[in-house]
Amino acid sequence: SKAPVRVAVTGAAGQIGYSLLFRIASGEMLGKDQPVILQLLDLPQAQKAVKGVMMELEDCAFPLLAGMVATDDPNVAFKDAQVALLVGARPRGPGMERKDLLTENAKIFTVQGAAIGQYADPNVKVLVVGNPCNTNAYIAMKTAEKFGRVNPKNFTGMLRLDHNRALSQLAAKTGREVSSLTKLVVWGNHSPTMYADYRFCLSNGDSVKSLVNDDAWNRDVFLPTVGKRGAAIIEARGLSSAASAANAAIDHIRDWVLGSNGEWVTMGVPSDGSYGIPEGIIYGVPCVTENGEYKVVKDLEIDEFSRERMTVTLNELLEEREGVKDLL
Ligand code: NAI
Repeated sequence: SKAPVRVAVTGAAGQIGYSLLFRIASGEMLGKDQPVILQLLDLPQAQKAVKGVMMELEDCAFPLLAGMVATDDPNVAFKDAQVALLVGARPRGPGMERKDLLTENAKIFTVQGAAIGQYADPNVKVLVVGNPCNTNAYIAMKTAEKFGRVNPKNFTGMLRLDHNRALSQLAAKTGREVSSLTKLVVWGNHSPTMYADYRFCLSNGDSVKSLVNDDAWNRDVFLPTVGKRGAAIIEARGLSSAASAANAAIDHIRDWVLGSNGEWVTMGVPSDGSYGIPEGIIYGVPCVTENGEYKVVKDLEIDEFSRERMTVTLNELLEEREGVKDLL
């Protein structure tokens, strides 16, 4: 049987953690034949709650769960980790400015980036879920890079929830099956500025853009619905999206590790300069994944409307980077 994979998960006592951990342990993320060891990080005051989650994980008697550790020390949590899901983050409190949110999280992600840079497996695949996830991933990558051990290309941010939200809206609009839709991309930041782009999208060979054939719907309904979906969930549920966020994290890592079979998946990855995105900025792009590596889909045509949208979401990321530059 296979050697277990070490999976570090931060914010293990939180709501996303409560949806995520059981699915990782059941084999939905890395495969039904792949044992896992869970390395769970949370704050000192959450350790008791983490223990409770571990008791429930035990009670599932998952055959693939080869071990668990709980800790409040990032250096322990990321030790030899081959997959790291950075979910825990500082939420926005009442009266907290965007700028404060950025810098409070920057502190967390410099500490965790340093721990990953020193102690994780050199090929660790990192997915940042905790918001602002693109910039948090950027901070962790920049900090880890200083130790010269881990591959900076493997620091990614989660755009997959936006991607899945967009797929669902398009399936409803066109009356096609979700599973028939391919070649969707969500460009940019995981924020309401993201640009979900279905110009290349196909459903059983038909152009989804032609099936929709409604630019006003795209601009006035589709993009705002996908962009503000997180806020709509909070409004309805009184809590932010958790099960769907955990589901997207599973999708992101599963496709990265096991391959996307030629399909496009949206990942927030450090830019290689394509599409005019400055190098290193963590930006949602279409990727094809194979043999544990992602490749950015290149040379797609960018029309005027798309360029405008892509620039708006890029400018937000440049501003975020500017806001944390003193910490790097
Ligand atoms: P939550 O508040 O239920 O749980 C967060 C957990 O992280 C708590 O247990 C907390 O103690 C822990 N934590 C805080 N600081 C930590 C640190 N420095 N180290 C380790 N653990 C720490 O929050 P929830 O709902 O699980 O969401 C987590 C994050 O995911 C939030 O930042 C949220 O905005 C983000 N999110 C991102 C999405 C995306 O698409 N990228 C979608 C939905 C949520």
